[in-house]
Amino acid sequence: MADRYLRLTGTAPGRFLTRRIGLPQPTPLRRWSAGRPDLEGPVLRLTAGAEPPPAGGSPYGAVVLDATGVADVPGLAGVHRTLHPLMRSLATCGRIVVLSRPLDLDGPQQAAAQQALEGFVRSLAKEAGRGVTVQLVRVAPGADPESVLAFLLSPKSAYVSGQVIEVAPNEPAPPASSRTALVTGAARGIGEAVAATLARDGAHVVCLDVPQSADALAAVAARLGGTALPLDITAPDAGERLTAALPRGLDVLVHNAGITRDRRLANMAADRWETVLDVNLASVLRTTDHLLKSGTLNDHARIVATASIAGIAGNAGQTNYAASKAGVIGFVRALAAAPRTRDRGITVNAVAPGFIETKMTAAVPFLIREAGRRMNSLGQGGQPADVAETVAWLAAAGSGGLTGQVVRVCGQSLLGA
Ligand code: NAI
Repeated sequence: MADRYLRLTGTAPGRFLTRRIGLPQPTPLRRWSAGRPDLEGPVLRLTAGAEPPPAGGSPYGAVVLDATGVADVPGLAGVHRTLHPLMRSLATCGRIVVLSRPLDLDGPQQAAAQQALEGFVRSLAKEAGRGVTVQLVRVAPGADPESVLAFLLSPKSAYVSGQVIEVAPNEPAPPASSRTALVTGAARGIGEAVAATLARDGAHVVCLDVPQSADALAAVAARLGGTALPLDITAPDAGERLTAALPRGLDVLVHNAGITRDRRLANMAADRWETVLDVNLASVLRTTDHLLKSGTLNDHARIVATASIAGIAGNAGQTNYAASKAGVIGFVRALAAAPRTRDRGITVNAVAPGFIETKMTAAVPFLIREAGRRMNSLGQGGQPADVAETVAWLAAAGSGGLTGQVVRVCGQSLLGA
């Protein structure tokens, strides 16, 4: 679905006109493409409190601020001292990442100072503008944040902003020659983009969608050199059919299939409730359980489920959908902490997309659609590729330190902020 307003503000007359009448001016986001450099300028790494280099050189592509040593409230002044002079020296679509520590619940000074960083980052992300994103990474002692930084400092995270990501120590996964991924709902929209991105990153992708979409699904699978699996994920024998289709086991499981059946609760028939809960939530629990119990999920597998900001903020007319997507978050948190995944190096995370330009959102009435697009810090909707890149990062072999996380891909939507 085309964002005509973004196209208009991308032209000189459009920019002039919209500025004159005080309308928002979203910056076209710099997204990943093969052969393009990751950032528009150098990465500056500084410790909070350090004097930044004098202004005047070429703009920085990114600033990484190490605030892990900020242990009390006076120490926060160092964050201001280091970042304040740099705010006008960042390139368009630049990146700011603040490294922090998990809260020490026995140390009120440290906990106050480290939690303060969260409010700081979320506010800076709202005011930065020009497509700049700002994130907080909580690095547990002994953890390596480099794989997180590689994603956050790249155009692959163009529509991720204002996020708090926790990274834990982990054993690196043994190198695998070829990984097998399963993506549900892969015939179109976000699922198709996820399948394409995982294939780009070297996985053999099994693309699953309902039998009614078999033609579109076959075309996607053929284009990606993958395998098409027409199957309704709510079928009673879905687990067995998956195991049969995955003789070499499964390394990446992406629960993406999802539906909406919107009505206010007063007008919602029971079948609308049940169908949405079954597709979006119950089938996720059933199939994951089967794939774990049957041993189909390999050691160090990555499970990524799809929530939604509706599951965080709530949304009128979507009690069924929001319940299902909030349920996904609960499921991810519980399974990530369970010995049956932890002991095998299997990670479990969720992405929570905001307004993404797909057929699902194209069907939303115009005014609500425009509000959804603009009510975020980047002033525009995301692309399926934005969600796909986030899924691919969580699914990467090097992302073993990330589990139990919910990463919003929403341009820092005001909903549920
Ligand atoms: P979409 O409607 O374009 O694609 C969903 C796909 O899932 C379709 O190909 C559909 O056939 C498939 N599917 C539905 N029921 C299925 C079943 N029982 N078995 C197998 N496949 C089934 O949706 P879109 O926009 O690509 O969304 C993908 C996911 O992202 C969904 O879980 C959705 O809830 C979530 N999401 C999307 C947002 C957006 O703005 N588009 C925002 C937040 C979350």
